[in-house]
Amino acid sequence: MPYFKRLVGKKCYLSPMNPEDAPKYVGWFSDLEVAVNLKTQMNINLLSEREFLEKNLKDGNPIFAIIDLATDKLIGNCGLHDIGWVGRHAEFGILIGEKEYWNKGYGEEATRLILDFGFNIINLHNIFLKVMEFNKRAVRAYEKAGFKQIGRWRKAFQIAGKRYDFILMDILADEYESGYVKNFIKE
Ligand SMILES: CC(C)(COP(=O)(O)OP(=O)(O)OC[C@H]1O[C@@H](n2cnc3c(N)ncnc32)[C@H](O)[C@@H]1OP(=O)(O)O)[C@@H](O)C(=O)NCCC(=O)NCCS
Repeated sequence: MPYFKRLVGKKCYLSPMNPEDAPKYVGWFSDLEVAVNLKTQMNINLLSEREFLEKNLKDGNPIFAIIDLATDKLIGNCGLHDIGWVGRHAEFGILIGEKEYWNKGYGEEATRLILDFGFNIINLHNIFLKVMEFNKRAVRAYEKAGFKQIGRWRKAFQIAGKRYDFILMDILADEYESGYVKNFIKE
């Protein structure tokens, strides 16, 4: 499957997504150890996932496949959603579905790359996210990439009979130090 080096880090790169990868995504969404951390718990299937991918690609939405740089293996995806073009804000989401890649810095690096895209290519001012309070790995990865905790959306998620808060986090353009895009500007 061809992938394209849109934004490149030391461990991974971000590539346009490919609808042919729909089975991979359905596999990850079906794995509760992965999916318990995601807001979408409704039934996921090949048809809906392929349609989702095709629609997002046709609409040109900034969602990317995360590819391991050393092996060109698809390990996850990340993207900017609900972009407010007037206020210049967006919501960030990420999923690394290949669990053997967890805790190795891929999440932090993919997050930094998409922040670079958001702030330095499409000129956003604020990038926001929400994460379940029990997802400590994600909170740590986001903090390493520069996000700050700004509050809580109280008891807004329920699973296995218990309610949980979302931790709300954001980062501003002037709090982010570009690592990749600025390398291409020769003044
Ligand atoms: C969340 C996710 C993107 C993070 O990516 P990652 O590559 O695993 O993250 P990183 O390796 O960059 O950072 C993880 C950090 O959390 C730490 N960590 C792991 N488990 C932890 C825990 N239970 N408590 C506190 N810290 C923890 C790791 O040690 C690491 O910190 P360190 O580098 O200081 O040692 C990825 O694990 C994932 O996609 N998980 C499943 C789906 C998901 O949760 N998506 C996010 C929904 S908001």
